[in-house]
Amino acid sequence: MAGRKKCVIMGTGSYLPEKVLTNFDLEKMVDTSDEWIVARSGIRERRLAADGQITSDLGVPAVRVALEDAGVAAEEIDMLIMTTITPDMIFPSTSCVVQSKLGLPNAACCDLNAACTGCIYSIEMGRHLIEGGNYKRVLVVGAEKLSAITDWEDRATCVLFGDGAGAMVLGPADDDKGIVDIYLGANGEWGDLLFMPAGGTLNPASHETVDGRMHYMKMLGREVFKHAVIEMARSVEIVLERNGLTIDDIDCLIPHQANIRIIKALAKKIRIPVEKVFVNLETRGNMSAAALFVALDEANKSGFVKKGDRVILVGFGAGLTWGAGLIDW
Ligand code: ACO
Repeated sequence: MAGRKKCVIMGTGSYLPEKVLTNFDLEKMVDTSDEWIVARSGIRERRLAADGQITSDLGVPAVRVALEDAGVAAEEIDMLIMTTITPDMIFPSTSCVVQSKLGLPNAACCDLNAACTGCIYSIEMGRHLIEGGNYKRVLVVGAEKLSAITDWEDRATCVLFGDGAGAMVLGPADDDKGIVDIYLGANGEWGDLLFMPAGGTLNPASHETVDGRMHYMKMLGREVFKHAVIEMARSVEIVLERNGLTIDDIDCLIPHQANIRIIKALAKKIRIPVEKVFVNLETRGNMSAAALFVALDEANKSGFVKKGDRVILVGFGAGLTWGAGLIDW
């Protein structure tokens, strides 16, 4: 790193669609109850995109807020990395669609898929572009319209997910604040715990795939839960250890927002007081790749994260993938 500038998060933004779907609404759709959903997940309501409002439409307003927060003009962006499991289309990339809707004339564009860990993966890619010196302003965006791939007849999954988007602008730091370290991991052997079977080359769209409800998310929730706690805890411990820190040095933990029981089990395992842990899933649900972006923006704007804080982001998702990032805010 000698001679290289650190990468800093210059600004954050998020966008949530207006429509609210409560647990009581879900009670009318599937055999479930507000009591079960709150007890098993901590979620009370989530936002849903309007008909015709697609993933890029969620990303665009989040980017506008992040650009304004960073004080950066659209023309200054030289790279846009978009992370999503619900792209507008398989191709072209949703990043290119966002670029055309916003007007980012100087940005190269690509999509990145690491499911719910997409935020941490895309920050890691973006920060190395900045630290390498060839890129000055990198936009990273997470946007999801999970309602489009949710099986609204499957009570085991449909109660968990929501739609939304978040964004951040990365640039070279003026001081020693910024992204200190990021650890990433994956194990593809656990791919069948959380997946969407059809729509790719394995099962191209056909009458059979539609009849078999194969264009929806499938999940073995209990197995995912177990791996999530273990791998997130391990990710935090790796980042702490290789930077000579203990959990007591951390002011704020921002975990992926999937389930309050996963977050509590993680906090207990790594021994961080719950008051230091940011949670918004009660009103957001799990927004996959958008979740950590939105959480970081809300933690930032609400003052939960303050200048000078030492922050850890930690996530996991389909793949399975996982990772943790240490940031001097
Ligand atoms: N309402 C009422 N009952 C339900 C519901 C529901 N919505 N869903 C399941 N049940 C029932 C099940 O049928 C089961 O009944 P049975 O005992 O008669 O068979 C019972 O409740 C228990 O089901 P489990 O699945 O064992 O419940 P669990 O305590 O594991 O909670 C949950 C389920 C909430 C899905 C949990 O396992 C979880 O959160 N897992 C992690 C999921 C996750 O985080 N996924 C996102 C990954 S991020 C990404 O990449 C998209």
